[in-house]
Amino acid sequence: MAAEPQHLTDELHVEVVTMRRRHLRGVLKIEAQVYPRPWSLGLFLSELALRTTRIYAVAKVGPTVVGYAGLMLAAGDGHVTTIAVDPAWHRQGIGTRLMLAISRAGVVRGCSGLTLEVRVSNAAAQSMYRRFGYAPAGIRKNYYSESNEDALVMWAHDTDLPAYAERLDAIEHELVGTTSVEEGLLS
Ligand SMILES: CC(C)(COP(=O)(O)OP(=O)(O)OC[C@H]1O[C@@H](n2cnc3c(N)ncnc32)[C@H](O)[C@@H]1OP(=O)(O)O)[C@@H](O)C(=O)NCCC(=O)NCCS
Repeated sequence: MAAEPQHLTDELHVEVVTMRRRHLRGVLKIEAQVYPRPWSLGLFLSELALRTTRIYAVAKVGPTVVGYAGLMLAAGDGHVTTIAVDPAWHRQGIGTRLMLAISRAGVVRGCSGLTLEVRVSNAAAQSMYRRFGYAPAGIRKNYYSESNEDALVMWAHDTDLPAYAERLDAIEHELVGTTSVEEGLLS
């Protein structure tokens, strides 16, 4: 039975695990709801095949996939390729848990900087990224060509230093409920 969205309670338990093929049905369902040009099954499969340079995680509540995120590793930096949460589960710290997991996984794999593109109009995501130490670094004109929208490029620097680990710990401390993260994600 699918998990029902719950109001923020101490009972919320979220599992963050490596994205696998079996999660893709749930992932695609969310993808179709939140993005005007959703990634296809084939695109997710080809990303998952790139094991050495990609980190993909899903967040689950019980058996239900409620969100997912990805990071591409390149030359000592991590590039957030996607992050999305089921709209029915927004504002419950799922996105934050996913950011924590992929950021820590990226740092373990040697990232000293983390970067992403975000729609200039996406204030919600930008405010989450700012909390994770990302600052605006430039604009990519018409990056989202389907909607004629510019991307804001954001960077978090020095993510390999202790201060960044402390920032992540402080963000985690604020979360309501509990989280378990699959060991393999962080090694
Ligand atoms: C961005 C997204 C992943 C956030 O997921 P989430 O699980 O709702 O995020 P969290 O509950 O962890 O919220 C983290 C912080 O983000 C900010 N935030 C999230 N949604 C917000 C909203 N609707 N309005 C304002 N701030 C918001 C807040 O600072 C929030 O912290 P707070 O709840 O303590 O105030 C989610 O809104 C989403 O899937 N959006 C559609 C896809 C998308 O835009 N992805 C990013 C592409 S770059």
